[in-house]
Amino acid sequence: MSKFQIGLGVSGGIAAYKAVEVMRLLQKSRCEVSVAMTRHATEFVQPLTFRALTDKHVIVDDYDPANPDPIAHINFSQNIDLLLVVPATANIIAKFANGVADDFLSSTYLACTAAVMIAPAMNTTMWEQPATQRNIERLKADGVHFVEPVAGELACKTVGTGKLEDVENIVKQVLALLVQSPKSKVQDREKTTLDIGHETLDLAAERLLITVGGTREAIDPVRYISNYSSGKMGYAVAEAAGARGAEVTVVAGQTTIDTAANVKVFRALSAVEMHDAVMRELPNATIFVGAAAVADYRPANSADAKIKKDGKETMTLELTKTPDILADVAKHRSNGLLVIGFAAETNDVVNYARSKMQKKGLDMVVANDITKEGAGFNTDTNIATIISKDSQIDLPLMPKRELADKILDEILKLRNSNAG
Ligand code: PMT
Repeated sequence: MSKFQIGLGVSGGIAAYKAVEVMRLLQKSRCEVSVAMTRHATEFVQPLTFRALTDKHVIVDDYDPANPDPIAHINFSQNIDLLLVVPATANIIAKFANGVADDFLSSTYLACTAAVMIAPAMNTTMWEQPATQRNIERLKADGVHFVEPVAGELACKTVGTGKLEDVENIVKQVLALLVQSPKSKVQDREKTTLDIGHETLDLAAERLLITVGGTREAIDPVRYISNYSSGKMGYAVAEAAGARGAEVTVVAGQTTIDTAANVKVFRALSAVEMHDAVMRELPNATIFVGAAAVADYRPANSADAKIKKDGKETMTLELTKTPDILADVAKHRSNGLLVIGFAAETNDVVNYARSKMQKKGLDMVVANDITKEGAGFNTDTNIATIISKDSQIDLPLMPKRELADKILDEILKLRNSNAG
């Protein structure tokens, strides 16, 4: 049975052929698709292509005698869960933003009460034009969702922003919106498993906030206290969650790797900055994962100027406690927020980790014995034990990316057991 009804609007750009791929992927993801095209879009792709694949009349012109529905723009727009426009030209965006309804697609937009998502594609200069950006801002303010175009080589042989986002990413964002929307038909979290091709978007209903990397605590303008965290473990969780349909925000300290794809990243180098950034982003999160190695102490007084040796053989630094981000998050949790911590230990790993889970009020802790070869800091692999109130899973050496999926599997089990 089809889960969602999608109205797919196709406007006249060279990327119109990719709308066919988007439609096929939506159908594979159990969506029923009805297609509306602008007259210019039919110059790029024949309506017959969509008609053959949807088994439905493709509407270009309301007044076409071949159109079986005399008030098509009303009926079309009232029977869909989402109006998706792929590709959206600067012209159709301008019409939507200004309430112009001079063809079937623009009339449908005006008559539509469902969510609207727009995937623009156009030449870079047209994209950057203040008029286009103004229209986009206006539509965003009206509640329209955008799948931003990406940078790349365009049909006009120039390189710049304006290329249609990858079709799989468009469909992922569509499905995530349909599941997360307050009007969503999908109420039960267990039903939020959506298949997109080979991938399962079982985290489409979740918004993860993840701390990543090590913090840097300034001694003076040239020196700091830090640790060996590379950010690999935290970013692996971010990447895996994004691939499973979650909206992911990362607060990153010092890292040695680039950010993961499709992840919003805020930099926060010290424990205090990380704490502030986390508390600011927390109200939007449904799952918090503390993978960062946060310094427990920082210099009590960071000097404004470089500290001089002045012939001294020793130097004493006074340290003061940093805020415990994870404990604060757990203390301020609301609306079913799940709180997951990591524990980097060198001995009695499971007992120390379990006691951290209890003291900090966590739902789950991932313990890694950093003395083991291939585990812990700055490695591509890890050896971990996933501990929650009712279970303990000892895992062998594996890539951090694989471990990230195992952690997310356990988080989902917790979510479903809490929901049920
Ligand atoms: O980044 P990589 O090089 O890939 O290395 C991964 C890792 C070893 C850093 C990661 O797997 C890990 O174990 N992270 C937690 C390291 C740590 O600081 O553990 P902890 O036992 O000191 O802290 C326990 C938990 O409290 C952690 O979730 C930590 O993020 C959090 N914490 C600690 C202190 C503090 N002031 N605020 C916190 O939020």
